[in-house]
Amino acid sequence: MIQIREADITTLSVDAIVNAANETLLGGGGVDGAIHRAAGPELLDHCRGLGGCRTGSARITPGFALPARFVIHTVGPVWKGGQSGEAERLRSCYLESFRLAEESRIKSIAFPAISTGVYGYPSIEAASIATQTMLENESDFDVIIACCFSAADVTVYETALGRKPPAPSN
Ligand code: APR
Repeated sequence: MIQIREADITTLSVDAIVNAANETLLGGGGVDGAIHRAAGPELLDHCRGLGGCRTGSARITPGFALPARFVIHTVGPVWKGGQSGEAERLRSCYLESFRLAEESRIKSIAFPAISTGVYGYPSIEAASIATQTMLENESDFDVIIACCFSAADVTVYETALGRKPPAPSN
């Protein structure tokens, strides 16, 4: 089942939450900062030993002080106008996160809108890629949550999933 929820991802009691990280895996702002703050310093200590993560790849760690058992850290592409392979790299973030989740027998997973904050990826295009991969992997999980941080993003995801008619274009 795919759920669209407006929530702070650090509060979700799911098997795994996905972090929109950077290649150092040493924390940052946005959802990365929120997850590190909520997980506590052990997460950063653990990440220091991982040796980073390439854009489009993913790494899994314990959730430490988070309600979630695991954190899957993935590094989205920085938006450069759409002609530099951004779509393929963003799709890879979701697919690699799902692959690691299946390897760890994770059955409930929540994703933020990867790359749509600091990295500037347009929300509608990113949601289209995200929801396409969620539909492709839906049968392997009990629940997949698209965790939106704004009501506007909820509408973007509902439209992307065909759960809400697109706004009339005037
Ligand atoms: N819960 C859920 N979603 C959140 C939260 C939260 N607590 N905080 C932010 N978001 C949302 C943002 O509103 C945005 O929709 O996560 C989405 C991704 O935004 P960013 O966190 O800015 O991530 P991204 O655009 O992928 O940029 C990654 O930012 O924080 C740094 O270290 C990070 O360098 C990396 C870059």
